[in-house]
Amino acid sequence: MPDLVEPSLPRGTLSDRPQPIFTLTELTIRPWRPTDADALAAAYEDAEIQRWHVRSLSTTEATRWIGAAARHWATDVGGQWAVVDTADTLLGRVGIRGVDLSDGCAELGYWTVAAARGRGVATLAVDRVAAWLLDLGFHRLEIEHAVSNVSSCRVAHRARFSLEGTRRSAALHADGWHDMHVHTRFAALGPGPAHDSPR
Ligand SMILES: CC(C)(COP(=O)(O)OP(=O)(O)OC[C@H]1O[C@@H](n2cnc3c(N)ncnc32)[C@H](O)[C@@H]1OP(=O)(O)O)[C@@H](O)C(=O)NCCC(=O)NCCS
Repeated sequence: MPDLVEPSLPRGTLSDRPQPIFTLTELTIRPWRPTDADALAAAYEDAEIQRWHVRSLSTTEATRWIGAAARHWATDVGGQWAVVDTADTLLGRVGIRGVDLSDGCAELGYWTVAAARGRGVATLAVDRVAAWLLDLGFHRLEIEHAVSNVSSCRVAHRARFSLEGTRRSAALHADGWHDMHVHTRFAALGPGPAHDSPR
């Protein structure tokens, strides 16, 4: 059956270019490296990351996850970045998954390590990656988080993702089913916040 509409983005939109590195004043948002496996596994020992991301990760699994992230970029299905400070210490993660080039959509996810929270690190990383994706031609970006995860909701708002609605009882966590907020950001937004360093 012939498609009657051209894809919003061509094949190779991600994979035809190296995964970008974003250098901010006190942060760098860069692709994961195999040498990050220990720090990645350590981040997943945090109860809040386990709670909201519904998984733990050994160093072996972290190594596999980093390899998979690179393959996802190479096949246009996703991308994962480590957020690090000026000493290359891991502060957090931002990523995209569910990339749909036909509709120009992707979903962003994120966490920060406990020691880095409350300084705007997640907001800066999400805002920067979202702006880049929209510049690249993505049409619609989503964030989905449990309604009870108030901190994550704040990140979505501060990164200029509007609340679009609530998917009722849509995600199973260790404590049961959760309603999920869907936030969206579109290409039509103006320039981002002037600052680019954590609080
Ligand atoms: C949600 C999360 C990513 C926020 O990261 P962050 O870098 O602290 O984000 P920000 O500094 O921009 O703060 C966002 C909100 O976190 C809350 N917050 C502030 N200090 C905090 C702290 N020390 N610890 C936890 N949350 C804090 C506040 O509600 C803040 O919003 P506000 O300043 O507008 O009130 C981080 O708390 C986290 O990784 N949590 C566990 C995993 C998770 O929830 N991931 C998202 C799943 S959708």
